[in-house]
Amino acid sequence: MTEKSGNITIAIDGYSSSGKSTFAKAIAKKMGYIYIDSGAMYRAVTLACLREGLNPEKMEGDPKLHLILNRIEIIFKLNEETGEYETYLNNQNIEKSIRSIEVSEKVSTVSKIKEVRDKMVMFQRKMAGKKSVVMDGRDIGTVVFPDADIKIFMTASADIRADRRYRELLEKGIRASFQEVKDNLIHRDQLDETRNESPLRKAENAFQLDTSNMTQEEQLEWFMAYFREKLTVLK
Ligand code: DC
Repeated sequence: MTEKSGNITIAIDGYSSSGKSTFAKAIAKKMGYIYIDSGAMYRAVTLACLREGLNPEKMEGDPKLHLILNRIEIIFKLNEETGEYETYLNNQNIEKSIRSIEVSEKVSTVSKIKEVRDKMVMFQRKMAGKKSVVMDGRDIGTVVFPDADIKIFMTASADIRADRRYRELLEKGIRASFQEVKDNLIHRDQLDETRNESPLRKAENAFQLDTSNMTQEEQLEWFMAYFREKLTVLK
């Protein structure tokens, strides 16, 4: 908490494509905090398992999964040209591969596995270290940082979320139909909400923000006002 370390932790959770990462990145930039995309880490593990020929439906308890998790190194490196952080798996840039439909279809199955979650949560806490961070995901306010200074739970209608993800994929040059993208995110939300391990849910003390009718500028404006109000309470 703020009083102990002087560092601020901001946890942003919510449904797939509710705008969490764009919002979290904008906050990190504005505040000069570190941004960590926890979803990219689960995607990286999924890619690693697929590349090793594992079947996500059957790999729980498989010694091969254990080996992969022991060897895995996931880091985020700045792309100087775009100014964006990109995901690296064992020193290889995998930013584009982890956004593919194939990985998107399997990632919720992989992220149900306790061994995978334990390892990722450990990485996430280590990455945050003793700095001020903004982290987005599904269990950040409930499990990773239950004492986060600020917790936000983001929602938006399924159509708006599908449209956002569809455009994002197009921009990255990844081909998929709108319906495919929408079906995938509804399916993932359902798996994320109903899994036994750290299911997607709003932390009791999180603020629920519906961004269906908000522009990115309005979201940031709202955040700055909320942050000031919260900080006054924390002092
Ligand atoms: O945020 P995203 O869509 O890139 O996340 C990909 C998947 O990873 C998502 O379907 C659920 C899982 N995930 C998770 O279980 N816990 C997190 N903290 C972040 C993501």
